Amino acid sequence: PPMAPPSASGNCKDNAAGENYADINWDGLGFSLVSTDYMYVMKCAKVDKFSQGSLIPYGNMEISPSAGILNYGQGIFEGLKAYRTEDGHILLFRPEENAKRMKIGAERLCMPSPSVDQFITAVKQTVVANKRWVPPPGKGSLYIRPLLMGTGALLGLAPAPEYTFLIYCSPVGSYHQGSSLNIKVEDRLYRAISGHGGTGGIKSITNYAPVYSATAEAKANGFTDVLFLDSATGKNIEEASSCNVFVVKSDAISTPVIDGTILPGITRKSIIDIATDLGYQVMERNISVDEVLGADEVFCTGTAVVVNSAASVTYKDKRVEYKTGPETLSQKLRKTLVGIQTGCIEDTKGWTVEV
Ligand code: COI
Repeated sequence: PPMAPPSASGNCKDNAAGENYADINWDGLGFSLVSTDYMYVMKCAKVDKFSQGSLIPYGNMEISPSAGILNYGQGIFEGLKAYRTEDGHILLFRPEENAKRMKIGAERLCMPSPSVDQFITAVKQTVVANKRWVPPPGKGSLYIRPLLMGTGALLGLAPAPEYTFLIYCSPVGSYHQGSSLNIKVEDRLYRAISGHGGTGGIKSITNYAPVYSATAEAKANGFTDVLFLDSATGKNIEEASSCNVFVVKSDAISTPVIDGTILPGITRKSIIDIATDLGYQVMERNISVDEVLGADEVFCTGTAVVVNSAASVTYKDKRVEYKTGPETLSQKLRKTLVGIQTGCIEDTKGWTVEV
């Protein structure tokens, strides 16, 4: 049965408004794991549907060495954030989009998935149980990480006999320590099990570790992130290690088209809508590296990174610098997006969901 949310004891302290917060340094948040109190777990057999989950204390879990996720990478994840508003509410941002994306990924990897309602209810329960970890307004957000994985044991290559849907969370601040990006275009390695019909378009866990070697090499050379190219031509940009990419030229904004090789980001989709509403022309299309090098502005979007500008992009031995700072279009878009997410700007689109 679901456990009661944490009481106002332990390492809580009262703020001026009398609300309970965990006793951590809220000014020091980056994007690293801060363990919280509870996680949500729901299991289901391959032949079944998910039905009943519960909150349990956050901690290690037992898993068979033969689990589908450990041996064959049968797993996907999601990421979304909860923000505390100035007047004390907690808002999720488009959680149904995460739920729907998880369903699509689950189908691709032959897994049962929670319904959209089950997903959203579980996310809300997780946030309520970990409420004291939602940062104060202006200090960050609670990053929520839903996982769906084959946890049943097997040996032959096949869908696992049992699945686990799990949600944990962590308070986070800025992903890139608040600085703009120096991006290296990777011309040797590709991001995901790539190409059309691959898994680049779902949030498969197997799409993420393959970025490590390119990212590590780039970081060792002073870059902040890597921009991957399409494996079919090696000419068009796809996405960075953890986020989608946009380029700005005059009043036109472009971002790579979603065709199964890049992640259909929820921040990406929201930024397209916000920019369109502001009167910009937004195009989803193939974008060559040459166009990136000729752009006025380049920026990244993602749940974790939010919206961040590129200070430079380097391709082979060519390095181009872009304008950054509060006057850029990307920062204008970021302000609108975060304003909606934090309840400071009226949400006319029904994107925010109160917990
Ligand atoms: C997110 O933005 O939610 C992500 O999944 C990025 C992650 C690789 C940190």
